[in-house]
Amino acid sequence: MYDKKFWNERYTRDEYLYGTYPNSFLVENFGVLTGPVLSLSEGEGRNAVFLAGRGLKVRGVDISEVALTKARALAKSKDVEIQTEVADLSEFEPEKNFYGSVISISAHLPSAVRYKLYPLVEQCLKPGGIMLLEAYSENQLARNTGGPKDVDMLMTVEKLKREFSNLEPVLIRELEREVSEGEGHAGLASVVQFIARKKA
Ligand SMILES: C[S@@+](CC[C@H](N)C(=O)[O-])C[C@H]1O[C@@H](n2cnc3c(N)ncnc32)[C@H](O)[C@@H]1O
Repeated sequence: MYDKKFWNERYTRDEYLYGTYPNSFLVENFGVLTGPVLSLSEGEGRNAVFLAGRGLKVRGVDISEVALTKARALAKSKDVEIQTEVADLSEFEPEKNFYGSVISISAHLPSAVRYKLYPLVEQCLKPGGIMLLEAYSENQLARNTGGPKDVDMLMTVEKLKREFSNLEPVLIRELEREVSEGEGHAGLASVVQFIARKKA
């Protein structure tokens, strides 16, 4: 259901679906990140552009070429450079031991894709590298303020612990917060937030 065609159609509009301001959890915590940064499902560039503006090298990967074209336009308008790569994360193989950080903001994927991808994400981090993730939790299913309508694609603290078992959590929690990210994410939401470090 949430395939390349779905996303390209959603992004085919002049406006930025999730706005051009970065995710607030990322803004609060970007100080723990080191580069290069891999951004999973970067979308229209708001988070990559923010990090590039803070001096970090960022590679944004997304299945939607429409989104990444908008991401490059946003970067140009802010006079920063980002790298983009159109790729399906179900087949994506990041370079091992290469990234200082990986971010995943509302990058909801089916469990079958996560089970293959997340071990590769752990491996692509350098020792001491940081994973930063915010996602809608399973409790978001009852709300209409954003996120997939598929419990398998929603997260819990337990899923995070299990699926990133080789990282050491620095922060791991579920909370309710007001999200205001364009028209795509708007209103009170249940989210999980996760920052974890790869053993040095
Ligand atoms: C809710 S949007 C979030 C976009 C961005 N992270 C943000 O916070 O603005 C989810 C993104 O996941 C991307 N996506 C969905 N399935 C994907 C896949 N299999 N591989 C790569 N990207 C995917 C979509 O194209 C979309 O940009």
